[in-house]
Amino acid sequence: MKEFVFLLLLLTEGSCRTRSSWCELGCECRGDLKFTICSRALLTQLPSRVAPGTELLDLSDNYISVIPKSSFSKNRKLRVLLLQNNNISVVEEGGFSQLEFLLKLDLSWNQISTLNEGFSVGLTSLRELQLSHNRLTSLDTLIFTHLDGLQRLNLTSNAIQTIQVRSFSSMSTLRQLHLEDNRLSSLKSGIFSMLRSLEVLNLAGNQIREMEITVFKPLVSLTLLNLANNHLSTLSFKTFQSIHTYSTHILLERNPWNCECDLQRLFRKLRTIQRLFLDDYYNLTCEAPPVLQDYRLMDVDSELCIAETVTVLIITVTVVITVLAAMLMGERKRKKKKKKQHWTQQGELSDESDY
Ligand SMILES: *[C@@H]1O[C@H](CO)[C@@H](O)[C@H](O)[C@H]1NC(C)=O
Ligand SMILES: *[C@@H]1O[C@H](CO)[C@@H](O)[C@H](O)[C@H]1NC(C)=O
Ligand SMILES: *[C@@H]1O[C@H](CO)[C@@H](O)[C@H](O)[C@H]1NC(C)=O
Repeated sequence: MKEFVFLLLLLTEGSCRTRSSWCELGCECRGDLKFTICSRALLTQLPSRVAPGTELLDLSDNYISVIPKSSFSKNRKLRVLLLQNNNISVVEEGGFSQLEFLLKLDLSWNQISTLNEGFSVGLTSLRELQLSHNRLTSLDTLIFTHLDGLQRLNLTSNAIQTIQVRSFSSMSTLRQLHLEDNRLSSLKSGIFSMLRSLEVLNLAGNQIREMEITVFKPLVSLTLLNLANNHLSTLSFKTFQSIHTYSTHILLERNPWNCECDLQRLFRKLRTIQRLFLDDYYNLTCEAPPVLQDYRLMDVDSELCIAETVTVLIITVTVVITVLAAMLMGERKRKKKKKKQHWTQQGELSDESDY
C-alpha cells in the first residue's frame, strides 16, 4: 500500500513536470500557465518557479514573511497577485517594482507595520490594494506616491492613528477609501485633499471626536460618508455644509451624542440641506445629558427645545417686566420730584411776594 502511494506521488509529480517544469511543487497551474494557484502550500518564501506568462498568482494562506527587492522580475505579466493571510512583515524597497501591469494586490491579513515610499514603486496600473488586517499605525506623505491609478484602497482593521497631510495626494482617481476600525481620533484639514474622485469614505469604528471644518471640502464626488461608531458628541454645521456634491449620504449612528438643544438645532439645519441625506438620523441616540441617556435624539429633541424656549421666554418676560417696572418707578419718582420742586418754588415765590 505504502509503495503504491509513493508510486502515485511520483507519477503525479512526473506528469506535472512533463506538463510543465514551471509549476512549483504544491502549486496548481492552469489555463496555459496563466493561473498559478499556490494557496495553502506551506510556503515560507516566494516560490522560485512561476511561469513567466502567469497573470494570476495566488499565494494566499501560506507562511511567507518577506517580500524581497525585485521579487517578481520574471513575472512582469502579472495582473492579480494574492498574498493575503501570510506572515509578511517586511516589504523591501521596490518589492513589486516590476509589476507595471498589476491591477490587484491583496496583502490583507499580514503583519505589516510600516511601508515606505519604495513599496509602491512601479505599480502604475494598480486599481485595487487590499491592506486590511495589518499593523499600520500611521500613513506618511510618500507611502502611496506611485499609486496614481488606484481606485480602491482598503485599510480596514489596522491601528492607524495619524494620517499625514497629503498622504493621498497622488490619488486623484481613487473612488473608495476604507479606513474603518482604526484608531483615528481627529480629522485634520488637508488629509483628504486631491481625492476629487472619491465616492465612498468609510471611517466607521474609529475614535473620531473632532473634525476640522474644511476636511471634507475637497471631496466633490462623495456619495457616502460613514462616521458611525465613533466618539462624536457634537458637530459643526460648517463641516457638512462645506461638502459640495450632488448628493451625499451620511451615517452617524453609534456616536455618544450630547443631545442639548444646540445639537437638535444643528440637525434641523442640516436636514434642510437638500444634497445631504442623514440616512440613520432616526437611529441616533443620546449619551448626554444624563437624564436623556439612551433616548433617541428625534424623540427628545422637541420637548427639550420647547422646555428651553419656555425658559428663555420666561426669562425674557421677567426681564422686560422688571425693566418696565423700573422705568415706571423712575418716571413716578421724577414726577414726584418735579411736583415737590414746583411746590417749593411756588412757596419761595409766595414768600418773596410777602415782601
Ligand atoms: C512569522 O514571521 C516572524 C518574523 O517576522 C517569525 O519569527 C515567525 O516564526 C513567523 N511565523 C510563521 C508561522 O512562519
Ligand atoms: C475591505 O477589507 C475587509 C476585511 O478584509 C473586507 O471584509 C471588505 O470586504 C473589504 N472591502 C472592500 C470594499 O474591498
Ligand atoms: C437603525 O437601527 C436598526 C436596528 O439597529 C437597523 O436595523 C436599521 O437598519 C438602522 N437604520 C438605519 C437607517 O441605519
